[in-house]
Amino acid sequence: MAKACGKIILFGEHAVVYSRPGIAMPVKNLYTEVKAYKSDCFSYCVDRVLDEEEKEKLTKLIEFVFLELNLKDNIHLHVESSLPISLGLGSSASLAVALIRELTEFFFLGLEKKEINNLSFKCEKIFHGKPSGIDNTVINYEKPLYYDGGKKTEFLKIKKPIFFVVASTGKKPETKKVVSELNEKYNSDKKKYNRIFDEISDITEKAKKALEDSDIVLIGELMNKNHKLLKEIEVSSPKLDLFCEFALQNGAYGAKMSGAGKGGNMIAVTDKENKDKLINALCTLSDQVFEIEVKT
Ligand code: PMV
Repeated sequence: MAKACGKIILFGEHAVVYSRPGIAMPVKNLYTEVKAYKSDCFSYCVDRVLDEEEKEKLTKLIEFVFLELNLKDNIHLHVESSLPISLGLGSSASLAVALIRELTEFFFLGLEKKEINNLSFKCEKIFHGKPSGIDNTVINYEKPLYYDGGKKTEFLKIKKPIFFVVASTGKKPETKKVVSELNEKYNSDKKKYNRIFDEISDITEKAKKALEDSDIVLIGELMNKNHKLLKEIEVSSPKLDLFCEFALQNGAYGAKMSGAGKGGNMIAVTDKENKDKLINALCTLSDQVFEIEVKT
């Protein structure tokens, strides 16, 4: 049986698609598990009801991985996941990584981490069209990640634990759609969008140091600034903005949307003392609130 965790983007979403850096964290308490069994015919089962589109994507993913790995034997795959589908927590990348890990073990393929990462990046293209690669990379390496399109991938060394609280808006972000709509706007005014992406890039660089120093006040300020710029490029939503405001009034040092936007999650930074207050407050707005403690 192989497992892969979830992820959350902390800084630089969207800008990372345009070769700027991004920072993402593994979410280790949520994960996908895949187990392969010998079988006479090919089949799979999943621990939840999938809609037609989800079924189609899963079948496509499995077929693609089998083709890429040149596998021909029939097997039965059992998939279980505590990750909500399409809520910005990396369910697709987590599934791809867990599947490739399990096939690597089951068929004794001996694939290295890097090879698994490269293949899971190709899988992400099936789901998202033009992914930056940040999701599959943070999930593969399971460490807080500074990601620069693969050019300068670094793992962050976080000395003191930092507490984040995530609240889901309940609305699925359509990553592919949001990314392609932004791309149209980008093509019509590159100057404007490059300026904003550069500002986000500057924030991400500062955030890298603030995270390594566990400076939650600065992390909070930078999250607020990043959110403002994401609003400017119109990938936020009234609900995400409301969640951010509410978090700031209830013990957060900073808050922003996370991931593609127009739905998905808000993430806020807090401290040990304010954590429970913030969680309880956010539970009045969202039925999916959880904390992440980050350290390395
Ligand atoms: O919605 P998510 O969590 O899958 O995040 C998408 C992040 C983007 O930067 C918008 C796209 C990408 O591939 O990095």
